[in-house]
Amino acid sequence: MLNINEDTITQAVLASMDDRCDARLRTIITSLVQNLHSFARDVQLTEAEWFKAIQFLTEAGQITDDKRQEFILLSDTLGLSMLVMAQNNKKPTECTEATVFGPFYVEGAPEYENGADIANGARGEPCFVSGQVRGLGGTPVSNAQIDVWQSDEDGYYDVQRPSEGSAVVSHQARGSLRSGPDGRFHFRSILAEAYPIPHDGPVGRMLEALGRHPWRPAHLHFMIKAPGYDTLITHVFRDGDRYLNSDAVFGVRSTLITDWVQHDAGLAPDGSKMEKPFYTVNYDFILNPAEVSA
Ligand code: BEZ
Ligand code: FE
Repeated sequence: MLNINEDTITQAVLASMDDRCDARLRTIITSLVQNLHSFARDVQLTEAEWFKAIQFLTEAGQITDDKRQEFILLSDTLGLSMLVMAQNNKKPTECTEATVFGPFYVEGAPEYENGADIANGARGEPCFVSGQVRGLGGTPVSNAQIDVWQSDEDGYYDVQRPSEGSAVVSHQARGSLRSGPDGRFHFRSILAEAYPIPHDGPVGRMLEALGRHPWRPAHLHFMIKAPGYDTLITHVFRDGDRYLNSDAVFGVRSTLITDWVQHDAGLAPDGSKMEKPFYTVNYDFILNPAEVSA
């Protein structure tokens, strides 16, 4: 096609796709091209702005490695992760709401018995976590796999600890447990604190230019898997946190906010004697039954 101009370029790109290409790919690229072109027309994108965007994406690629995923941060901070998660996780209102996965989950975290201390040396005030996994109608879900991960008191996940420098993850403040026959689980960890998402790269500069902060309110991550139920990926947020209303990645749902109760030194829920103050948090999870495929 010759003499393509501003008015015919969109159609020319769409027409260039081979009819035999994958139907879903065709749907996605068609919409992407149409929306991208309308965006450029809408803002009357200049060549300098186009090049700045190319540089931004190049830097996002350069800073990304197996521990740092700048493109996920970009998706999170632009609200795309929450949008995609929400439109793919529609379920009855009784079910626990899902939220973003985030970049700090690690495969192969240690398996723990109920009651174990999953902090494994991570620093923070002691916190005893408990809850129950149930299905709709209140049926306890036994033997559910409960993966949990969180940051330490400095706001770092174990994978972010800069000093270690080794490829081996030390698996602190993360682990995998199973719910008991009554669906209940409990473990010891540390108090979750608010922390900034990694903001020393292009996404951090974008937030700053937009007058936005990089902070996430204190939370514990959970991924719960049980046969016959949809996998639930969510967080439990700490009530009272100053960033609940301005989470950098838009992940807070009010149903996921709960009280983390502070206790004076004394007897902990597991019967141990605590020399210093500690926290407890209790949260129950309601799983959605998996769709039975015909
Ligand atoms: C997190 O909660 O771990 C997280 C989520 C999105 C971006 C960065 C961190
Ligand atoms: Fe997190």
